[in-house]
Amino acid sequence: MTFQPGLRESATFDRNVIHEIQRAADTGIYDIRGWGAKRKVPHFDDLLFLGSSMSRYPLEGYREKCDTDVVLGDRHAKYPLHLDTPVTIAGMSFGALSGGAKEALGRGASEVGTSTTTGDGGMTPEERGQSKTLVYQYLPSRYGMNPDDLRKADAIEIVLGQGAKPGGGGMLLGQKITERVAGMRTLPVGIDQRSACRHPDWTGPDDLAIKIIELREITGWEKPIYVKIGATRTYYDVKLAVKAGADVVVVDGMQGGTAATQDVFIEHVGIPTLSAIPQAVQALQEMGVHRTPGGVQLIVSGGIRSGADVAKAMALGADAVAIGTAALIALGDNDPRYQAEYEQLGSAAGFYDDFQDGRDPAGITTQDPELQKNFDPVEGGRRLANYLRVLTMEAQTIARACGKSHLRNLEPQDLVALTIESAAMARVPLAGTDWIPGRSA
Ligand SMILES: Cc1cc2nc3c(=O)[nH]c(=O)nc-3n(C[C@H](O)[C@H](O)[C@H](O)COP(=O)(O)O)c2cc1C
Repeated sequence: MTFQPGLRESATFDRNVIHEIQRAADTGIYDIRGWGAKRKVPHFDDLLFLGSSMSRYPLEGYREKCDTDVVLGDRHAKYPLHLDTPVTIAGMSFGALSGGAKEALGRGASEVGTSTTTGDGGMTPEERGQSKTLVYQYLPSRYGMNPDDLRKADAIEIVLGQGAKPGGGGMLLGQKITERVAGMRTLPVGIDQRSACRHPDWTGPDDLAIKIIELREITGWEKPIYVKIGATRTYYDVKLAVKAGADVVVVDGMQGGTAATQDVFIEHVGIPTLSAIPQAVQALQEMGVHRTPGGVQLIVSGGIRSGADVAKAMALGADAVAIGTAALIALGDNDPRYQAEYEQLGSAAGFYDDFQDGRDPAGITTQDPELQKNFDPVEGGRRLANYLRVLTMEAQTIARACGKSHLRNLEPQDLVALTIESAAMARVPLAGTDWIPGRSA
């Protein structure tokens, strides 16, 4: 639109708001979409590292090591996970994703020595076959839940919530419920499915403790048990998860991706990843299990895109991170080469968030056999492995600059914040000051 003097767009009723009111009035239904929050909230971009100079001594990139390995789940499990990089693949459902996409996630993750995770809809042979380390999700919906698959997994993740929709359930629309997807979920073909927002057989943390023991008994106390929560009252939720017996706590911030849920949920429920990490760390520290041998590890997700994000999450106290959206982009989602196809869907590469409608031209978030032909799991896996390597190397580069010989040695003292909001949320000083709003004078 060309600029016309006198035309003033309202900050409250901007063009997108007006469009949404018109869309709602036209259709009478709320907007369902994938991806995570699109509004700007305080994030890792609002933090900077204090590289070393005199008061701290940097490590030399080409000669001095900076290790990246991480052990997850050594609190109670006979076989904790040993990963080469702290960047893991988050749970994404078969149904939301194609079988080929799940296979590619397994290929890419295994190539760099990290884990991948199942999702709503169960474990596929493609995924188990290609994933050296596979975490099996135990979800409120129980779609695809199979005790034999619990035993085939390397760890179990009890999902209590997701950052994109804490307190709500996901959706899988009928167009993606093919015979295979329906068969795995024991539900009818072609009918919309809504996942439950809470587990049917427990009502609180005491019951969760019993459920965790039940899962340990089924799997011979071999596998780490994770508990995943959407970030809201994170301090209390983490304490309760630890008390219930979790080996690993996964905290997913509000920017976390989803395959499909109501837009109003994605944008208005939950707290930013940045604000959730210090709450989780405080809870773990007060319980004496943060970064201690046999302690409880913290995995953080929600908007992780670069090695800088990985390093910042770890400096704030995460032991590892999980990525969803970025992994799909690395596989080839939103690739500009499908621009014409995205335009036909009324979208564009870089904007496609209607994962639920099953028409993804990249063949990743679709069950359509024709569209799936556009996706090569071997090539997708190679691209993901490349991306994971870059994330790890970038995080190492930053850690060395901060004088750290292991990623886990990054600490809040390596960080400053650019804004008062991010300083208060991340509990690090505003850049150039020693002021942490709410903490120091
Ligand atoms: C396509 C897609 C499907 C997802 N499916 C699940 C799921 O089945 N179970 C779950 O716990 N989380 C699911 N998630 C959320 C991810 O596990 C993770 O919490 C989130 O994507 C992390 O944020 P990020 O996308 O910004 O990396 C899904 C996310 C996406 C993008």
